[in-house]
Amino acid sequence: MTHPRFTGGVELATGIGLRVPHYNHILAEKPAVGWFEIISENYMVEGGRALEVLDRILEQYRVVQHGVGMYPGDAGGIDFAHLRRLKKLVKRTKTPWLSDHLCWGSVDGSMSHDLLPIPFTFEAVRKTAENLRIAQDFLELPLAVENVSSYGEFRDNEMTEWEFLAEVAEAADVGILLDVNNIFVSSINNEFDPLEYVEFVPADRVAQIHIAGHSRYERFIVDTHDHPVIDPVWKLYERAIERCGPVATLLEWDARIPSFEEVWTEAKKSEGWRAAALERKQKNDDHAAA
Ligand SMILES: [Fe+2]
Repeated sequence: MTHPRFTGGVELATGIGLRVPHYNHILAEKPAVGWFEIISENYMVEGGRALEVLDRILEQYRVVQHGVGMYPGDAGGIDFAHLRRLKKLVKRTKTPWLSDHLCWGSVDGSMSHDLLPIPFTFEAVRKTAENLRIAQDFLELPLAVENVSSYGEFRDNEMTEWEFLAEVAEAADVGILLDVNNIFVSSINNEFDPLEYVEFVPADRVAQIHIAGHSRYERFIVDTHDHPVIDPVWKLYERAIERCGPVATLLEWDARIPSFEEVWTEAKKSEGWRAAALERKQKNDDHAAA
């Protein structure tokens, strides 16, 4: 079960990513969505429509910040100018926790703007955990790191990806945003058992789960977030909930975005899987106690 210190004690059920094509619908209809996730960097601006809309959303909904620009795997250290801007937005949104990707993205001040996978080495665990600790202390709220999708593996790897994720989270004392679609995508591209990954993750650290769709090509799967969630990903989700308890669940849909209703209907499917998982967990707990 997730420890409340990784979510600031806030329990959330199903949410979706706040996206520009849905702004007018949400403001006009005020749909009964559990919560919204925002991409922090889209709102780290001075004024304008994005912040106006955000302020109106914040009057009605809980908003959780998700970032794409922290790059905790950067060997050059953490970018304090970025953290200062991030903290300003945290004060506005009152996000209960804040997530970003377990990746690197810049060298000597030049940004790649990509979520690049980190080599799974002990040295990278040390450096990444150091960066995350600094960021978490500076931001003064629980941080969660997300596993990224990847399309190849480093020859230098000294452990599996799931061991690396667990080592970093323990060493930095941060939470985990477990993206079960990313696990599935990487498992096909890098040929591992995705269930082994889900079974290994430290359940008490999982603050949030991402579900999403992807695109399948001849040799690789690409993490495109432009399709409904497929059954093997739902099965990983179900097992993650069975292990971690009722974790906040967020559907990402970032390209070829359909209507608000379509996205929300897809997100709500998680509730059936979640209920089945929690029922099984209860039965297992009862059986263990008997
Ligand atoms: Fe994700």
